[in-house]
Amino acid sequence: MGASQEKNQTLTVRDNRTGKVYTIPIDDNSVPATAFKAIKAPRLPGEREENETEKGLRIADRGFLNTAVIKSKITHIDGDAGVLRYRGYPIEQLALKSSHLETAYLLIYGVLPTKQQHNVFQSEVHRHSAMHADSEEFFRSFRYDAHPMAMLTSAFAYLGSYYAEANPSLEGQNLYTTGTPESLTIMDKQIYRLIGKATTLAAMAYRVRQGREFVTPPHGLSYTGSFLYQMDHLGQEDYRPNPVLEKALDVLFLLHADHELNASCTTVLQTGSSLVDPYSAIAAGCASLYGPLHGGANEAVIRMLISIGKPENVPSFIEAVKRREKVLSGFGHRVYKTSDPRSFIVRKTADEVFKITGKDELLETAMALHEAAMKDEYFIKRKLAPNVDFCSGLIYRAMGFPLDFFPVLFAVPRVVGWLAHWRQMMLQEGGVKIWRPRQIFVGAAKRDYVPIEERSVVTGIKNAPSPIAHSGIMKRTMLGTFKDKPLTKL
Ligand SMILES: CC(C)(COP(=O)(O)OP(=O)(O)OC[C@H]1O[C@@H](n2cnc3c(N)ncnc32)[C@H](O)[C@@H]1OP(=O)(O)O)[C@@H](O)C(=O)NCCC(=O)NCCS
Repeated sequence: MGASQEKNQTLTVRDNRTGKVYTIPIDDNSVPATAFKAIKAPRLPGEREENETEKGLRIADRGFLNTAVIKSKITHIDGDAGVLRYRGYPIEQLALKSSHLETAYLLIYGVLPTKQQHNVFQSEVHRHSAMHADSEEFFRSFRYDAHPMAMLTSAFAYLGSYYAEANPSLEGQNLYTTGTPESLTIMDKQIYRLIGKATTLAAMAYRVRQGREFVTPPHGLSYTGSFLYQMDHLGQEDYRPNPVLEKALDVLFLLHADHELNASCTTVLQTGSSLVDPYSAIAAGCASLYGPLHGGANEAVIRMLISIGKPENVPSFIEAVKRREKVLSGFGHRVYKTSDPRSFIVRKTADEVFKITGKDELLETAMALHEAAMKDEYFIKRKLAPNVDFCSGLIYRAMGFPLDFFPVLFAVPRVVGWLAHWRQMMLQEGGVKIWRPRQIFVGAAKRDYVPIEERSVVTGIKNAPSPIAHSGIMKRTMLGTFKDKPLTKL
């Protein structure tokens, strides 16, 4: 950029309330929100003091639609062009030529590893994959039908309890932020542990539901090969997972490894910004990922397809979506406004898997739904195209995974992306700033406490706890007495 162009990298803002003009710098095509705080005006007569007008303008951005919270070198998405690149490498090239672990190295450390670096990384991840025997009790303490995401989310936080030396609350708050060789060693050890144990924890959550004994991570298998082995091994000598399924899962893992500042990654960074240990931050990310608008979408797609049933029911389902009675899960994306580039690779992977597992019975319904939505004006106008979750669930189903395990198959590879962003933030120039957004307070102005006897009933359904219907057991219990008094009167 030339010197005169550089000089023009500013925004001139005129505040029509005061007539004042402000010059706001533009850096990397962004303006600092704090510069708007300098734009102050006197409060209007009668204006709420909670507006804080005289303290400077606030930037309102419900749902972070246009707020950049960090400088990142990890993943680039061009949602209009349908482009996704990890550290500059197109996702299509990586899916074809790389592996999940190699891509993990790339995402976290910024470069493709040499053979030797790759071997060391792989061996560190493997070395840190076994769990302490006590953890078996932790998994067995869940109910027989516990959702595997409840187990996985808790398991990440539980894992942190083993490593006091990795906890900034115990070891000093700058444990991860100094960038010294000692600090980096501690940081990278937790990264190996979290990637290595993510598959082990997920496999344990799987096996506890199947009522099986746990399996120690095996030697000599790929990341996804080891994961499949830990889930499926039943004592057969020399058991090896099917290589086509192992490879398909590896491609899906690579595609799910990162997607810049989605809800779960943002949660990891927000949680990590308090300088909490990485296990707590990853547990928080895992919880965020589970929502049906995010990583729970692959499960929601299959539930939706089951509810539609046959292809002939697709038109009435589409009409229900347009009446806003239903949501077309697996369609639409906050960033992609054309197709999601991952969805093409997922469809190719699905073909490979179906060749050996046979087609899923829901495939025809899925294809009919896809075709109908892509032709429909409602979806065209809103630029809603299939996302990565539309087909991934069909592959997981064909591979025999239970529905509620699908989000786990998203969370495990995403640990890599969360860690890449967490590491980058810990080491960013200027240190870590705690993420503390603002709000626009629209609640009551100052009012004085009223003694209970003097209060009148405030009506309106949102102003009181909701009444609930009690079960028969509760009613029966309440008919009993305590110290000769009916329980209902206590
Ligand atoms: C991903 C998602 C949360 C993005 O949300 P967003 O960026 O806030 O987009 P919006 O909700 O503002 O959507 C814009 C419009 O498209 C509609 N829309 C978005 N996704 C839709 C879907 N899957 N089905 C039906 N309508 C949808 C919205 O109702 C809205 O319509 P309107 O402008 O008439 O009110 C949203 O597309 C969605 O809920 N998709 C289904 C869940 C899913 O597959 N998630 C996985 C993402 S990888």
